[in-house]
Amino acid sequence: MPRHDANEIMSAHRKLTDKGSTSACICVLGLETCFDSMGKCYPTVSEEYNKAIDKARRKLRGFIADKKCAPLMLRLAWHSAGTYDVKTKTGGPFGTMRFKVELGHAANNGLDIAVRLLEPIKEQFPIISYGDFYQLAGVVAVEVTGGPDVPFHPGRVVSSHDKEEPPIEGRLPDANQGNDHLRNVFVETMGLDDKDIVTLSGGHTLGAAHKERSGFEGPWTSNPLIFDNSYFTELLAGEKEGLLKLPTDKALLADPVFRPLVEKYAAVSTYLQRLKDCNERGEKAREGDYLLQSS
Ligand code: HEM
Repeated sequence: MPRHDANEIMSAHRKLTDKGSTSACICVLGLETCFDSMGKCYPTVSEEYNKAIDKARRKLRGFIADKKCAPLMLRLAWHSAGTYDVKTKTGGPFGTMRFKVELGHAANNGLDIAVRLLEPIKEQFPIISYGDFYQLAGVVAVEVTGGPDVPFHPGRVVSSHDKEEPPIEGRLPDANQGNDHLRNVFVETMGLDDKDIVTLSGGHTLGAAHKERSGFEGPWTSNPLIFDNSYFTELLAGEKEGLLKLPTDKALLADPVFRPLVEKYAAVSTYLQRLKDCNERGEKAREGDYLLQSS
């Protein structure tokens, strides 16, 4: 895959996270763009806060790997961020998922388990905001499943100021719909673009659907605890017994813009290495602006 393709992939993950935060980048897939193409800066946090993040990260690594709950953690991070509305600047990853009202949104079925699993670790780090903590869990989920090493940018409002107001229900995508709906959710509401839709859909390289949570059943790939590009290869391979394709996954194949991107990402044998290279270069590129306060 040419460098610029890797950039596209990283940029999608990054953009989604950026959109959702007035104060900091979040990481839905835990992937960062190579270059700070959005000119994004990050808030400063105290040394004590950074130390707590490091320690929490270590604890989360062991915990998520042991419990094999990386997919659920990634879904928690994404559903926290994916409620962002670029027009009203509401929603986004501010830790409101811990409240019953947001957990009660139909799209979030099952995420109460993630919140419950994380709580004993979160309690050990009162200094860390819930917003940061849930995104950190998503970042670690990608790491422990073999995804790229992830730079994490803290600063989504400190605990005592965590937003208490959950987003309205209905902002997350509905798996039974098609491309117009995906564009409506990702482009119109979140402020992302077509490429982002395809790259972010690759998050389904991890995990599975559960009948009692979403009405769907089964994993997208044969290695749902490994972060790689097999979501794209399986999508192109067509129906396979035991593997799931949501209507929204299949819709990607029918779209003249989405399909070539699926093909491009499926063709990448060194996908993961590229993402890693990209991350490393991105870190270097960002030195200097990383700690600047965002506007
Ligand atoms: C494109 C629109 C999307 C739709 C319609 C969608 C829909 C779904 C559905 C229906 C499930 C099954 C939930 C269950 O039954 O447990 C699911 C699971 C999952 N989704 Fe998505 N999703 C979308 C995008 C994303 C994105 C952007 C990410 C991350 C970057 C993501 C990550 C996951 C993960 C990791 C799981 C597995 C959770 C587990 O194993 O417990 N999804 N998604």
